[in-house]
Amino acid sequence: MSQSARKILVTNALPYANGPIHIGHMLGYIQADIWVRFQKLRGNECHFVCADDAHGTPIMLKAQQLGITPEQMIGDMQRSHESDFSDFLVGFDHYYSTHSDENKELAETIYTRLDKAGHIKTEVIEQLYDPQKEMFLPDRFVKGECPDCGAEDQYGDNCDVCGATYAPTDLKNPKSVVSGAEPELRESEHYFFDLPAFGDMLKSWTRSGSLQNEMANKLNEWFEQGLQRWDISRDSPYFGFKIPGTENKYFYVWLDAPIGYMSSFKNYCTTTGKADWDTYWQADSEAELYHFIGKDIIYFHSLFWPAMLKGADFRQPTNVWAHGFITVNGTKMSKSKGTFIKARTYLEHLDPEYLRYYFAAKLTSRIDDLDLNLTDFAQRVNSDLVGKVINIASRCAGFIQKKFDGKLSANIADSALLEDFQLAGDNIAELYEKREFSRAMRDIMALADRANQYIADKEPWQLIKQEGSEQEVHEICSLGINLFRTLMVYLAPVVPKLTEEVQHFLNDTFTWESHKTALTDHPINKFKALMQRVEMDDVNAMIDASKEEQASQAPAVEANDELKKEPIADEISFDDFAKVDLRVALIANAEHVEGADKLLKLTLDLGGETRQVFAGIKSAYDPEALKGQLTVMVANLAPRKMRFGLSEGMVLAAGPGKDEIYILNPHDGAKPGMRIM
Ligand code: MSP
Ligand code: ZN
Repeated sequence: MSQSARKILVTNALPYANGPIHIGHMLGYIQADIWVRFQKLRGNECHFVCADDAHGTPIMLKAQQLGITPEQMIGDMQRSHESDFSDFLVGFDHYYSTHSDENKELAETIYTRLDKAGHIKTEVIEQLYDPQKEMFLPDRFVKGECPDCGAEDQYGDNCDVCGATYAPTDLKNPKSVVSGAEPELRESEHYFFDLPAFGDMLKSWTRSGSLQNEMANKLNEWFEQGLQRWDISRDSPYFGFKIPGTENKYFYVWLDAPIGYMSSFKNYCTTTGKADWDTYWQADSEAELYHFIGKDIIYFHSLFWPAMLKGADFRQPTNVWAHGFITVNGTKMSKSKGTFIKARTYLEHLDPEYLRYYFAAKLTSRIDDLDLNLTDFAQRVNSDLVGKVINIASRCAGFIQKKFDGKLSANIADSALLEDFQLAGDNIAELYEKREFSRAMRDIMALADRANQYIADKEPWQLIKQEGSEQEVHEICSLGINLFRTLMVYLAPVVPKLTEEVQHFLNDTFTWESHKTALTDHPINKFKALMQRVEMDDVNAMIDASKEEQASQAPAVEANDELKKEPIADEISFDDFAKVDLRVALIANAEHVEGADKLLKLTLDLGGETRQVFAGIKSAYDPEALKGQLTVMVANLAPRKMRFGLSEGMVLAAGPGKDEIYILNPHDGAKPGMRIM
């Protein structure tokens, strides 16, 4: 039942050309690659393109810092990105750069069309300017004291200490990150894209596809807040493309970045002739277009991008698929913990297919963050890939080789079992299609368990000792090999290198349809160990190496965050929330702690039970005034040993810190020990 081949173009977000690829980035590229490999295996026409995102202030400054031209830097960076991707078996059909002729031409075309249609407006705005470096400063390139809490060394957009958000002009004692000079306000004319004019179009685009729930919710929120005009120009000096008809204005990097999807594909079409560019991009295109992106760049891809395309008379994406962020061992990747792991560092210690499998085993179609727990990673890969799947082949291959001339039997021992494996294919295909990789891996591993059980039950190694059992052993082991083969067809999108070795071993070439057939009376090759177990020693060596790299690195101008807006905060489930046991507590006693400048020692009465808690509220409260008050505490927080004693819980308080802290009080009538609901 082969349906007619679909035409599909897939992209993944373009990495910035000012830093190396790390394993966080790899999540999206591996996710997209698995999906693309699945489509190709199915026989669909699927093209997968990407490029380096080469423009913008951080890239310009980083090149200056290195004392090389931006062109030279982005060239070096592109080569290193390409080799990282290729070594992780990410099979782009084309990899290009946004700093290309095609991209310049397309950016100009799109801008000119938007302008002609009246979608570009200008406005004079005021912005901080570095008089020494003679450039306007993006928010992240200004630092100073937080206007709210006074914390020093805070960025121009928000405060790390108190969380306040503000304009860079609100900072006290602002300094340019680039030169240290005090910035001044200057006026300049900027160009704006009239996003609000596309409100209705975007709403109908939102409804036309099957957007992820979280994405649809986020979009509705943005619609409710009202769409804003988008500032698409930057003043010189800037590394990017000049805006046609201007002297010193450049396209903001995020204008030409997604156009990089089109221009990479354009260069691919002209250099290889493998596809027709117009067929994929013209307004009434019937080809499918999917963008895989991380959750931090949804705004750009689901609002600006479809609107730009519409306004310039090109097709809109069929869908934009966002994924969550990688954490390592439960927390944000950290340079000092050695969990900020570069793709290259990983590759120097571990097999890329381990990570591909682990990501697949955890990825869903949702935008949830995904934790790479390194112990779990080793266990999962060892138990599933090595212990379950490859084990099937290694238990059967020896017999075939030694006893049966390397040839599989003509007859299938248990055709019902094989049929079960084959029938699972449609469901697994649907899971791949829907990006429910984790469920696909679970189904595949459940089948692997059955295959192992079958072999364990049949005990061919015992059976072979019996006279006249040869044919039976031959058929059992041949079935084992065929079950293994079916599983490897299902796993092919995830572990392409292993799949290649298995195809060689089996003397076979896979398509998705191979899962419906079996190899009978078929010669196979000698079995070689297909994959080694993950060793924790190698994992630890990778962490150590990451720590060392960090220590030897010069601090860099890294302010890519300028370009990131509106990340989706991680949702927690109601069950997570319900784990926090909040109680009304009576402050039975409060006293100073000798030697502590921030802490008060509180004795809290939970209606029978008392707790000792150290709270950092000394600057705001006189202990005497607290005695007898009711407050709210986290009653089930694991006790923490502090310098002055054990703290058995936490009191809830609000405020920016220092001497402005307010503990929470329940209304009259609440009794100590009551649970907060
Ligand atoms: N250059 C822009 C994208 C332009 S697309 C027209 C950019 N580059 S990036 O290098 O910062 O990120 C590249 C991709 O990696 C993005 O999809 C981003 O969301 C993703 N990730 C970056 N860090 C990540 C994790 N820690 N975890 C998962 N994905 C992460 O954004
Ligand atoms: Zn602050």
